[in-house]
Amino acid sequence: MGRYQLLTSLVVPRPIGWVSTRSASGSLHLAPFSFFGAISATPMLFSLSIGTRNGVAKDSLQNIRERGEFCINVVTESQLHQMNLTAGEYPPDVDEFAHAGLSVSEAETVDAPYVGECPAVFECRLFKEVDLAPGVSLVIAEALGVRLDPSLRIAEGTHFVATESLRPVGRLAGAEYALLGEVMVLERPR
Ligand SMILES: Cc1cc2nc3c(=O)[nH]c(=O)nc-3n(C[C@H](O)[C@H](O)[C@H](O)COP(=O)(O)O)c2cc1C
Repeated sequence: MGRYQLLTSLVVPRPIGWVSTRSASGSLHLAPFSFFGAISATPMLFSLSIGTRNGVAKDSLQNIRERGEFCINVVTESQLHQMNLTAGEYPPDVDEFAHAGLSVSEAETVDAPYVGECPAVFECRLFKEVDLAPGVSLVIAEALGVRLDPSLRIAEGTHFVATESLRPVGRLAGAEYALLGEVMVLERPR
């Protein structure tokens, strides 16, 4: 507990990977994970660390294992409250999309649902799962497709998405979240 509190208050802000999955029986699931990071551009890889609940793999991990395909939705200011609603410890038959009043859309490059309201979505497959310790799994996800809503501004001649148009949210300690503050530009020395 002490380690968790130290780590999650010092490694901040953390991006939130909002993972949407379909179970083997077809039910829909959605849950946020902030032990989430970008680890490679080519191939485009992400890390997600997913724990167990009462010794049992969380629904998201179970579905990722069973289906091998899922989406990682980027959480922005407009979805912050709905994201929080999807983090409850619900039984496996609860559809968090419906619970949070979110629309379900279908990915193109993988067989998985995504959050229709999210302006940016990575369509992923399971690249590798690493057993880190009892009850902690590292999921490495590979994006096969990236969906971008036309509302996002892209700097001309680049693939940089303007942060002000995305308005991402980061997780801090406990129930704290960071919204987009002042963006500072600092060129690297040559
Ligand atoms: C912002 C946020 C970040 C979270 N990050 C993680 C995480 O990185 N790993 C984890 O195991 N649980 C994390 N949780 C808790 C899960 O979202 C929660 O256990 C959820 O119920 C799992 O859903 P599932 O059983 O449908 O997979 C986080 C919760 C919140 C609100």
